[in-house]
Amino acid sequence: MTSDEAAATGVGDMADRTGPPFDTSIAHQARVYDYLLGGKDNYAADRAAAEAALKAWPDMAAGARANRALLGRMVRYLAGEAGIRQFLDIGTGIPTAGNTHQVAQSIAPESRVVYVDYDPIVLAHARALLTSNEQGATEYIDADLRDTPAILTEAARVLDFTKPVAVMLILILHAIPDDDDPHAIVARLMDAVPAGSYLAVSHAASDLLGQERLQGVEDAWRGRMQQQITWRTREQVARFFDGTDLVAPGLVRTEEWRPDPGSAIHTAAWSAVARKR
Ligand SMILES: C[S@@+](CC[C@H](N)C(=O)[O-])C[C@H]1O[C@@H](n2cnc3c(N)ncnc32)[C@H](O)[C@@H]1O
Repeated sequence: MTSDEAAATGVGDMADRTGPPFDTSIAHQARVYDYLLGGKDNYAADRAAAEAALKAWPDMAAGARANRALLGRMVRYLAGEAGIRQFLDIGTGIPTAGNTHQVAQSIAPESRVVYVDYDPIVLAHARALLTSNEQGATEYIDADLRDTPAILTEAARVLDFTKPVAVMLILILHAIPDDDDPHAIVARLMDAVPAGSYLAVSHAASDLLGQERLQGVEDAWRGRMQQQITWRTREQVARFFDGTDLVAPGLVRTEEWRPDPGSAIHTAAWSAVARKR
């Protein structure tokens, strides 16, 4: 991808970016996830990293699909039962079926969705996210989750922060190492939204995978991945929800969160939606 191609999306200028460089020689999380979901926006290094991890943990691709299905269930709950009309979806990923605005606007056409990701491949495909219907709105921000002031300033052009917002952090927080204090980052985001807002999280679980498989995946990805991956325990994930009330069924395995009938897979991720007090 060239700067021209990225600029052609109309949503950002590659020259101004501060996120990870576009480098096909090392695996990027967004592209590995795309490969696991059966997408085509990935390169040899991404496929090799994914295949190496699949040897250690054959259910990883099914886990990625289960996470994507979870995103749909969470947005359906938020736009439906919870009545949310504004979404801040950080760690968007490469657009695929059932993007947040499509699910939300199928329930509430006036839904407004701001997407945030820092990966150049997501930026290059962001045009697919800017297909809001006329009653609602979508926007894409090329930014790092750690830069909460930039995200909140940009997002305020589309979202009204005096009204409830669903902050979506679906399978992204494992990309923030403890040294960057992910709990403080989530707290800053939730401080910016009013009571009655929601936090939706899914997170790679160190205590669900089993030591042998966890070690196998870590060995498979050492030196191959652009991002460091930090798996966390249920207790560490629960702390992201300080100051909120978990909605039923609470913090559970991804497949246990308001499952659709017939889903039988075992994932290794903790998931929850919670309402800010
Ligand atoms: C596994 S994908 C999840 C995509 C989507 N949320 C889903 O659940 O289907 C994680 C995404 O988070 C993005 N990401 C990781 N670290 C990030 C950071 N510090 N700032 C912004 N985006 C980040 C990656 O580029 C990738 O697109």
